[in-house]
Amino acid sequence: MTAPSHRETAWWQEPVVYQIYPRSFKDSNGDGIGDLPGITEKIPYLARLGVDLIWLSPIYKSPNHDNGYDISDYRAIMPEFGTMDDFDTLLAAAHQAGIKIMMDLVVNHTSDEHEWFIQAKSSKDNPYRDYYIWKDPAGYTERGEPIPPTNWIAAFSPSTWEWEPTTEQFYLHMFSVKQPDLNWENPTVRQEVYDLMRFWLDKGVDGFRMDVINLISKDPAYPDDPAVAAGSKTDSLGMVANGPRVHEFLQEMNREVLSKYPVITVGETPHVDTADGLLYTGFDRGELQTLFQFEHMGLDGNPNPALGKWNDTRFKLVDLKDTLSRWQNDLSGKAWNALYWNNHDQPRAVSRFGNDSPEYRVLSAKMLGTVLHCLQGTPYIYQGEELGMTNVYFENIEDYKDIEIHDAYRKLVGSGLVSHEDMLRYISQSGRDNARTPIQWKAEAHAGFTGGKPWLKLNPRYTEINAEEALADPGSVFYHYQQLIALRRQHPIMVNGTYELLDPKDEQVYAYYRHGTGASEQETLLVIANFTDSTLERTYQEPAGEHTLLTSNYPDDTQNTLRPYEAKVYLYQA
Ligand code: GLC
Ligand code: CA
Repeated sequence: MTAPSHRETAWWQEPVVYQIYPRSFKDSNGDGIGDLPGITEKIPYLARLGVDLIWLSPIYKSPNHDNGYDISDYRAIMPEFGTMDDFDTLLAAAHQAGIKIMMDLVVNHTSDEHEWFIQAKSSKDNPYRDYYIWKDPAGYTERGEPIPPTNWIAAFSPSTWEWEPTTEQFYLHMFSVKQPDLNWENPTVRQEVYDLMRFWLDKGVDGFRMDVINLISKDPAYPDDPAVAAGSKTDSLGMVANGPRVHEFLQEMNREVLSKYPVITVGETPHVDTADGLLYTGFDRGELQTLFQFEHMGLDGNPNPALGKWNDTRFKLVDLKDTLSRWQNDLSGKAWNALYWNNHDQPRAVSRFGNDSPEYRVLSAKMLGTVLHCLQGTPYIYQGEELGMTNVYFENIEDYKDIEIHDAYRKLVGSGLVSHEDMLRYISQSGRDNARTPIQWKAEAHAGFTGGKPWLKLNPRYTEINAEEALADPGSVFYHYQQLIALRRQHPIMVNGTYELLDPKDEQVYAYYRHGTGASEQETLLVIANFTDSTLERTYQEPAGEHTLLTSNYPDDTQNTLRPYEAKVYLYQA
């Protein structure tokens, strides 16, 4: 990974990425579960959209406790998704269409059904014991129950420590009890990880999205979590984020594996600020190319810290601009941003940052796409975003399948902190299943996702929102995204121009310049986006030169009058 010379971009900075959550994308055999042949069938759809790269959420063998983020065999395909032949067919079809594939690398933890863990838990002197993190109890209660080593709360269960009675020790799991954390202090574990990475790279995959990769190095002191002591009911992931050896491990991984292949990498890194971000992704660091930061995902969290992300109020635009601008400015010239509004863990962008009412859904979805694709960095599109898919509301808690939702329900409703009714509202605003309802392909039964019974209920809005109708409508969100992707190819300034925020205190409009560099030095982009349903008047200092309107979500230009959710991009050429 070398820094771009003369402010031009390197190949890995240029793609637009499309994330696929295979379970919910397209079912080819009527069992209600999306699968690899379903993805292969939709390659022409993705080629039509124009994306360069697919990030595939995990497709490996897994008991599916966390939908594949709990892997029991890194070299095998989940039978529900197909076979290795199906994978090879998909990879070939994608490459044939000029689309690369990035795999999800989940190596902070495995499934408890992975052979390594089955061995490890069998006895203290098993050779695999040190693949995981085992601790003696802090003591015993009066009733003789072992006391966990720390007070940490796991992401999907009450404690991060699970007692293993055979060998009388606790093992660490930052997520569910079925996701034991690997012990990265053990060099053999690291070599195992590098080996499996080589296995996929040698097969021809083009890169990795690395799951919670900044949690791999644990502070050996294992201190208690002060937030838990203060009453927080949400997870203690922050206690293991950005640990003492994480950069050493990533540099080793880069040296041993990544630097030997033409790969694309993006790390998923909760609890990072821009200073951390520069350490993971700085051009001179030899670690990762890009990362997913979470600061803009945290802006609508609950003001009560005990409740974490579970809430039903909205973000403030000034905060959003401040956060995104900080990442734009602080990484400028030193590292590269990954840009996203949503993914399989987040609610739907149009419902969260836009307006999903029938009147404004299309306009605001296009507005959001415009803002994101004009920032500096690599844009990610999450499946269905290009259709303007929306959050869902299920009245029955049992209709949700996500372990995080059920765990939060138990923690918050179970402890009496939140009522059942409030929690259902919070879930429909913040829950991960909002992103996981099956893709709406057509207005027919099960939205054309499956011929059988879908594993998760569909969003009932599929009659109004679906790919078939989007493809038939030149004014659809799909074609707006197609245009944004095409514009990035035509105008390097969209990729490499520097960023300048306008009117940071404006609570209604997000406006910024991109200043061209190198070959596009004479150019400036002016991006203007109305985040409200009101008509507003705004004027901005015009850059030098002639201007053209590159894209807009209205058929005409009313100049300084911004209509609801209007977004437009002018290119100035001096
Ligand atoms: C990441 C994944 C999420 C998963 C968790 C544990 O945050 O994106 O889906 O549940 O890690 O692997
Ligand atoms: Ca299937």
